[in-house]
Amino acid sequence: MIVSPFDLKAHDTYAAWRQRKLDIPPPTGADLVVEIKNPRTLTAAEHAALMRRIRQWNMALYASAALEADPEILRLLGRQFGLTHLDANWLAGEDGISDISVHEGGTLEAYIPYTNRPIKWHTDGYYNPPERLIYGMLLHCVCSALEGGNNQLMDHEMAYLLLRDQNPEFIRALMQPDAMVIPERVDEVDGVRPRQGGPVFSVDAASGKLHMRYTARTRSIAWKQDEATRAAVAALEALLAQPSPYILEARLEPGMGLLCNNVLHNRSGFTDNPEQPRQLYRARYLEGIMG
Ligand SMILES: [Fe+2]
Repeated sequence: MIVSPFDLKAHDTYAAWRQRKLDIPPPTGADLVVEIKNPRTLTAAEHAALMRRIRQWNMALYASAALEADPEILRLLGRQFGLTHLDANWLAGEDGISDISVHEGGTLEAYIPYTNRPIKWHTDGYYNPPERLIYGMLLHCVCSALEGGNNQLMDHEMAYLLLRDQNPEFIRALMQPDAMVIPERVDEVDGVRPRQGGPVFSVDAASGKLHMRYTARTRSIAWKQDEATRAAVAALEALLAQPSPYILEARLEPGMGLLCNNVLHNRSGFTDNPEQPRQLYRARYLEGIMG
């Protein structure tokens, strides 16, 4: 059986993991970037450079010359990191890879990713049921905005570490199976989606990997109404609101992309060039990238 450092009872395993994590100084957004030629077929050196960053920080950025609007880029890139099970998202195209750009009018306009509005801190698929947790996520930029559309990124394991350093009770509260509830809602496309409760932090029994389910949104979300959860959520909000060396700034330009184990991220609002609107492809996977 795997002893996960994220188990609150695993004191020694956690202490060793924590030390290894803190031994390496936090990267800048630029440190995360690996120059690659073709994301569809990485060289061994490119793959290793990306993997090193993912192993340490659960994320890596690449800069490539792949400028064509081709969603296959993500599928082929993901496969090279063991990502094969795409989350079947009803908003995504038939191939399970979403085309993220501004949609005016129609159903997609109701969903923030498809607008130019800012998106608060979250992990992807926080509303998914427990059997469809998103462990891996890829983004590829076809066209960047005229202005804005920048991302901030934070390794969710660092969020766990910093919160546990403050008070392990925060972790205990955020691991409660009913810590965060998405109330039942009626959806134009999906019909009635049942109430979906779950923890913020959970540990995958097979791999010992940490999963984080979070959104800073306050609409369509209900936190468990007890003192411990309130305190933990406030601490997490404060952590993400303060300047921190562990909050990385990134801006995806054409040909660039993000490979990550569904780390915390946000997006600033943006202004499009009407001739060349911002366009990203996004793939969400039911498995993470294993080091
Ligand atoms: Fe997202």
